[in-house]
Formats: sequence, C-alpha cells, structure tokens
Amino acid sequence: MTNERPFDLTKCVRPNILALPPYTSMRDDYLDHTNLSLLDANENSFGPSIPVQEVASTFRHDAVSIQSALDPKRLQLHRYPDAQQIKLKQLFCDLRNTTCEEKDAAVKPLAPENVCLGVGSDESIDLVIRAFCAPGRDKILICPPTYGMYEVSAQANDVTVVTANLDVDNGFALRPEAIDEALSEDPLIKVVFICSPANPTGNLIPRAEIVRVLEHPTWNGIVVVDEAYIDFAPGGSLARQVNKWPNLIVTQTLSKAFGLAGIRLGIAYSQPQISQLLNNLKGPYNMSAPTIALATAALQPAGIALMEANKRAMIEQRKRLLRELPKISGFGRFLGGYDANFLLVQFLDKPGGQGAVPDNAITAAVAHTLAINSGVLVRYRGIEPGCVGSLRITVGTKEEVDNVLLQIQMALEKVYSGRGQTA
Ligand SMILES: Cc1ncc(COP(=O)(O)O)c(C=O)c1O
Repeated sequence: MTNERPFDLTKCVRPNILALPPYTSMRDDYLDHTNLSLLDANENSFGPSIPVQEVASTFRHDAVSIQSALDPKRLQLHRYPDAQQIKLKQLFCDLRNTTCEEKDAAVKPLAPENVCLGVGSDESIDLVIRAFCAPGRDKILICPPTYGMYEVSAQANDVTVVTANLDVDNGFALRPEAIDEALSEDPLIKVVFICSPANPTGNLIPRAEIVRVLEHPTWNGIVVVDEAYIDFAPGGSLARQVNKWPNLIVTQTLSKAFGLAGIRLGIAYSQPQISQLLNNLKGPYNMSAPTIALATAALQPAGIALMEANKRAMIEQRKRLLRELPKISGFGRFLGGYDANFLLVQFLDKPGGQGAVPDNAITAAVAHTLAINSGVLVRYRGIEPGCVGSLRITVGTKEEVDNVLLQIQMALEKVYSGRGQTA
C-alpha cells in the first residue's frame, strides 16, 4: 500500500481495541491432524438434538429430507430473517416454564417479552456489558476462575474488570460476602457475572448465594447468571426467576446440551424492560434464517427427547471418567464439581506416593503429548486461580472416553519417563 499521506492506524483505533489479542484456539494448531478428538471446548460429542424427521415436519407435514427442509427457497434466504422471533422465543419459554421447579411455580411464567436471542451466549454477554457499562468509566465483577469471554467483552468495551475469586480452598464456592463488599464499596460496578454451573470448575452455585447478591441492600446493578451448562446439572434453571428479580439476567445457549454450537444461538431471559433494551441494542437480523429453523426443530418434542437421551449418555460417560481416571498413576484429584459436561482434573509431578504435588509443567506436557501423539485436545487450565496442574476435559462418547483414558495414561508415562520417573 502506498499513500502520500501517512496513516497511523495505532493513533486512529481505540486503544482498548488495539490491545485486544486475537482469538486463538488450540484447534488451529492441529488442523492437519485427521481424526481429532475434540474434548477441549465443552461441546456435545453426542451430536445435535435434531432428529432428521423432525426437522422435516417443522416445515411441512409430509416427510422430507433435511436437505429439503433447509432448502434455500423454503428458508426464503433472499429475504431478511424474522427480526422478532416471537414463535422461537415462545418455544424457549415453554421449555423453561415446563421444567421449572415447584418453588418457581408462584412466579409469573416466562413469555417472549422476557427473551432476547443472541449470536451465542457470547453475544448476550457483550450486549449486557454494552447496555449497562459506560466505556472508560464503569466496571463488571467476575469470579475467577471463570469463563474468559466476560473479560474479553469488557476489554472490547473499555470496561474495567473487578474480581472476587471463587473460594479455591472450599470447592470453588461463590463468596457472596466478598462480592457484596465489593459492590458496597464501588458503585461503578454495574454488572456481576456468576457462572452456574461454573466453567472451568463444574459446580452449580446454590440459589441462596445468588439471591444474596441479588438482594444487595444498596447496590443498583445487574446480576447475570450464566447457565450455559444448566441442563447437565441437578436442580433447575433460574430463568423463571427473572419475573421475580428485576435485576436478574439468566443466559443460556444451544451450544452445550442441545449440541448446536455451530448454529450460534444464545438466550437471555430478563424482565421485560431489560429484555426490550437488549433487543433494541442487538442487530435487527442477528438470527439467521437457518439458525431460527434449526433451533425451532431442536425445540420440538422429539428434539428435546433427543437432547435428554444424549444428556443421559453423557452422564454415564462422566461417571466412567470419575471412576476410571483415579486409577491412573499420576492422577491427583478432581477439582470443583460434576454438574457440567466436563471435569477439571489435577495431575501430579510424579506417578504418586509421598510428596507428590500438582504440577503445571507436567500437566502442560501431558496436554501437548495428547494433542501431538493422539489428536486428543483438552484444555490446560493450570494458570487459573486454584487450578494448578489441571486439565479441563470435556466428556465425550464412550469411544472418546475409552481413548482419552488410554492416551492420558500413555502421555503421563511418557512425560514421567522423560523426567526419569517411572510409573
Ligand atoms: C460459561 C459459558 N458461557 C457461555 C459460553 C458461550 O456459549 P455460546 O456458544 O452460546 O457463545 C460458554 C462456552 O464455552 C461457556 O462455557
């Protein structure tokens, strides 16, 4: 590029955007590997909750193939998609109204006016920060170790991040008193993000602790409960509680239990006024026609039944990992809880015995060896607070679990023997 006038991009772009690191995924490093076992991103190895027949009947009464159901003409791809998505929102409300706990029954049922749909929960998170935090002034509060996008979105919006770590010595419990204290001291904190079940620690946060933050006596801000993994947890969603707590937003996604990470659909439930704000802020056509069509199919009874069946299969495999991993020399312990489709697993600096301690170098080497030798991708979490020596492993299919158990054992043996320690 040549130009008479010098152009300095660095002086033109907002400094917080200039400082944004590019999104990187371990997957990009292994694109050439055939047969990758993707246990790094908490997707659903059991597949999408879309029975082929059901997709067809969503569009017409006779049976047609999935290709035909997603035919461009049928989808009217030459037109802008439905901007309001009322029917789809109603299906999400039905899902959460029917699965609500008894104690929620007194609260008004969810209706489309409670819903804003985003391009994944990631867009919902960004919308909330943009709606409530003034750039360069306001703050959010997060509870590390936690999901990374809260911080990324905050930086993109020039919003400061305040932390109140989970209790690393107490099963990664929320510390509502520490959060409350931070909120009392700093009115510039506008949004608190609570991940439940938490990522990467996998524990469901008790409702009473969230309510304590919601009921802060002086603070005037929003509590977001990120329920990306709620369908894997015992105990129900807080979604319906948005009609009780005016400052509560509950986010969910089709990326996990419904196995639809590829269509990018996140759901934010909130009281109608907040919901209206979020809907006003989002792009009018953020939901593509194929996304709306596929989500609609997944929310039919047969899709929900398939989701439930896949969830049961995942829980079986989670139990197997919980049973079998401790038999491997070098396994330390499970960190956090078992309420999601992944486990946080700590490994030791030697095969076991006296004086063995969790070790980041060993764990990072195991993750690397798994990827290089067998194409098994898991997520290294050793640098997160309270997570030293840990890998986050998504629960896969039976075959994936068989393989990851074998490969972890082999990787540990290799890494230990490289250090002169044998199992
Ligand atoms: C806690 C949590 N929230 C949100 C997301 C993002 O979900 P989506 O795919 O809907 O953007 C993830 C994805 O891993 C997550 O772990």
